[in-house]
Amino acid sequence: MLRVGVLVSGGGTNLQAILDAIDNGKITNAQVEVVISNNAGAYALERAKNHGIPAVCLSPKTFESRDRFNEALLDTIDGYGLDLIVLAGFLVTIPPAMIQKYRNRIINIHPSLIPSFCGVGYYGLKVHEAALARGVKITGATVHFVDEGMDSGPIILQKAVEVQPEDTPKVLQQRVMEQAEWIILPQAIHMIANGEI
Ligand code: GAR
Repeated sequence: MLRVGVLVSGGGTNLQAILDAIDNGKITNAQVEVVISNNAGAYALERAKNHGIPAVCLSPKTFESRDRFNEALLDTIDGYGLDLIVLAGFLVTIPPAMIQKYRNRIINIHPSLIPSFCGVGYYGLKVHEAALARGVKITGATVHFVDEGMDSGPIILQKAVEVQPEDTPKVLQQRVMEQAEWIILPQAIHMIANGEI
C-alpha cells in the first residue's frame, strides 16, 4: 500500500478528487496518511478531518525562520513514513533538502500545459488570467515530478482543455479542474501505486 501525504494551501478540490478516487476504486494500492497545510484556514483541512485523515497545519509565520519551518515540514513528512508526496495546490516552495531526500517521490499538479504559463508567479487564478490574456485556444493541466526548479520536473501526465470565447479566469479555472486536474492527478497516483511509472 503506497503511503501518500497531500500538501495543500486552499480549498482542496484536488485533495477531494484523490479521496473520492480512492473510495470508488479508481486509485488502488494507495492511502492518504496525512494532509498538511501551511494555511490554518484552508478548507482542505476540513476535508481531511471529514475523512478521518490527520490534518496538520504548519504555518511558516509561526516559526522563527524559514529554515526552522523547512525542518519541521521535513520532520513531519518523515514521521508519517510516506512513499509519495502530492502537492495539490501547495503554494510554498519545497525546501531543497526535501527534494533531494524524496527525489521522484514528490508530484505536483499545475493548471496549464507546461511549459506554457508556468514557473515563478504562475499559480492559481494567475495562470488562467495569463492564458486568456495570451489568447490561447487550448490550455489544460500537467502532473509532474518536482525537482529543484519551478514546474520544471519530468512530466507524468497532461490533459488538454478548450478555451471558450466568453471565458473569465474563474470559469476557465473551473473547467480545467473538472476536465483535467481532477482526472489526471488521481490517475498519476494510481499509476505510481501500481508500478506503472
Ligand atoms: C489548483 O488549480 C492547482 O492546479 C493549483 O492550485 C489550485 C488548487 O485548488 N496549483 C498551482 O497553481 C501550483 N502552481 P484546490 O485547493 O481546490 O485543489
